[in-house]
Amino acid sequence: MAAMTQQLSTRHLLGIKDLTAEDIQLIFHTADSFKEVINRPIKKVPSLRDITIANLFFEDSTRTRISFELAEKRLSADVINFSASSSSVKKGETLLDTVNNILSMKVDMIVMRHPAPGACKFLAEHISANIVNAGDGTHEHPTQALLDAYSMREQLGDLKGKHVAIFGDILHSRVALSNIFCLQKLGAKVRVCGPPTLIPKHIDQLGVEVDYDVRKTLAWCDVANVLRIQLERQHIRYFPTLREYAQYFGINRPLLDSLDKKIVIMHPGPINRGVEITSDVADSEHSIILQQVENGVAIRMAVLYLLAVRN
Ligand code: CP
Repeated sequence: MAAMTQQLSTRHLLGIKDLTAEDIQLIFHTADSFKEVINRPIKKVPSLRDITIANLFFEDSTRTRISFELAEKRLSADVINFSASSSSVKKGETLLDTVNNILSMKVDMIVMRHPAPGACKFLAEHISANIVNAGDGTHEHPTQALLDAYSMREQLGDLKGKHVAIFGDILHSRVALSNIFCLQKLGAKVRVCGPPTLIPKHIDQLGVEVDYDVRKTLAWCDVANVLRIQLERQHIRYFPTLREYAQYFGINRPLLDSLDKKIVIMHPGPINRGVEITSDVADSEHSIILQQVENGVAIRMAVLYLLAVRN
């Protein structure tokens, strides 16, 4: 067996596209150790004691924001939280001016969520601190894909050859793109499924299968990763009503019970209960939705730690 690489090939985490399969395995291996740490009575290690991290959130978040903050605190980093809605961005300050002002206060690392695709890449070209993308518009959400694949791996072992279906609003989803890149690097087969209006044209050129039949795709897959309908990004109508979406593309209990096998149900959250997934599926024995959230802290600890030690 080849020796595991000891450091990441990149000094930022802008997207899964930039990671190698070895980087991903290193992150998983490191997350295994941190998962053990956060299940101890004392959940803290001094690994980032001299590091200051700013969490810049220009878009709403519950899971990602809290998960990064917890990960940073578990690593003993100093943490600053910035929310665009209560900052001088509202007075017209540019992104670069805002970040440079924060960095001048001796901040070492930036975690940023921003509505503009490419915002993290833009920052990486202009500042010297490490940057972690916590979701940039419809582009990538790399730590979500890492925690998703890590959670799948806990259920299924090696993902090579496993069938993963991503259901729902693929068109507006940064989770979908990061999952596709991550799963393919780990050797899984990926299919996307949803209404034709919410599947990007030419997505098959990424090497994924496309299907519009939910029942058929559920029968094909080992894992169903169900995505939220992102109404906040939909400025035209992509389907007539939420009721019809739920009827034709929602994952419900009768559909699962009609399969002759057990599949793993995932959702990155937040969930629209009764739209893309019913409560009796989201809360069922098939679902690992809360394990995904738990694993997010260990994955983010691993990413932050590996970026910091690489400097
Ligand atoms: N999965 C995810 O990114 O959730 P939040 O928007 O709550 O961070």
